[in-house]
Amino acid sequence: MTSTKTNKSQGVKADRTMPASFYRSQDLYERSRDEIFARSWQFIGDSDTILSDGTNVVPVNILEGCLDEPCILIRGAEPGALSLHSNVCTHRGSVLVEKPCHVETMRCRYHGRRFGLDGCFVSAPGFEQAENFPTEQDNLAKIPMQSWGKFHFASIEPAFTLDELIGDMKERLHFLPLDQFHYAPELSRDYFINANWALYCDNYLEGLHVPYVHPSLATLLDTRAYRTELLPYGNLQVGVASNEADAFELPQSHPDYGQHIAAYYYWLYPNMMFNFYPWGLSINLVIPQAYNQTKVRFLTYVWRPERFGNYSTADINQTELEDEEVVHAVQRGIQSRVYKSGRYSPTWEAGVHQFHRLIAASLGF
Ligand code: FES
Ligand SMILES: [Fe+2]
Repeated sequence: MTSTKTNKSQGVKADRTMPASFYRSQDLYERSRDEIFARSWQFIGDSDTILSDGTNVVPVNILEGCLDEPCILIRGAEPGALSLHSNVCTHRGSVLVEKPCHVETMRCRYHGRRFGLDGCFVSAPGFEQAENFPTEQDNLAKIPMQSWGKFHFASIEPAFTLDELIGDMKERLHFLPLDQFHYAPELSRDYFINANWALYCDNYLEGLHVPYVHPSLATLLDTRAYRTELLPYGNLQVGVASNEADAFELPQSHPDYGQHIAAYYYWLYPNMMFNFYPWGLSINLVIPQAYNQTKVRFLTYVWRPERFGNYSTADINQTELEDEEVVHAVQRGIQSRVYKSGRYSPTWEAGVHQFHRLIAASLGF
């Protein structure tokens, strides 16, 4: 990692990209799980779908296949009161709740310990003689969870606040009625990619490849006006529409008022993308499965289906397949004994540079 050390005082104009060895390293992948992912915020679902009618307790697995942290989302007695707790029994560590259900208390099937809907210990057979029992440690640990409208995020051990992550998105898109965005399962799907998760993010974070890899998308964007804005823990790519493309109707008070904007592409460190279009929202969750395998979950939320127009979910699928092809080509390329790292385009790759600096900071390079 010596090349990244020299990066510290430089910047996008002078630095070299992440060493290829990073993407090949099982060891750095293991460290990333603890030092990047366990400390990040993850999207866990929306109010409409996460707790179906009649259930008040639902198991939630944070970053399935990567962290696999068992949690339980609990709807309390107060209307709208949601909380997230560890789903691991505080006795000997059995997973407590296996499927969504409606219960008054949660009882561990192993030795019968009970917990209330506030996560607190209620009773434990066989512990009558136990001294100094129960204590705080016998309650189910609370997991930090915060919401933006109907969208819920959780973090096991947050290294930064949710507001630092999504503050700009909340403010800039305050004019969108999120409660009218509805999850469309038929337009949502998972993609499986044989590549390192960070290569997938690298590709998302620059528009330089758009004219080469996505010729039809390129006709909808005014590439001269395309820009990236850096945020504390992420960035925003603003897709300015060409004359043919549909655009947001921005309120007059909006900082981007007067611009013809086809898409706001938010990337949230380390692995989430929130892509807003005039018809709704496409959330992409990049979920590492191994150092060289990644699942990408595309969740579609439709607001105004009549505006699918010239960039609908079929086009998003096409763009995704085009991206996968180049990401696979890079995955093959970074196995090389000759290639070590490259340089950033100062015009186009400020977002990739920022991503690499954030990884380096998280891992203490
Ligand atoms: S592990 Fe839950 S009661 Fe023993
Ligand atoms: Fe792309």
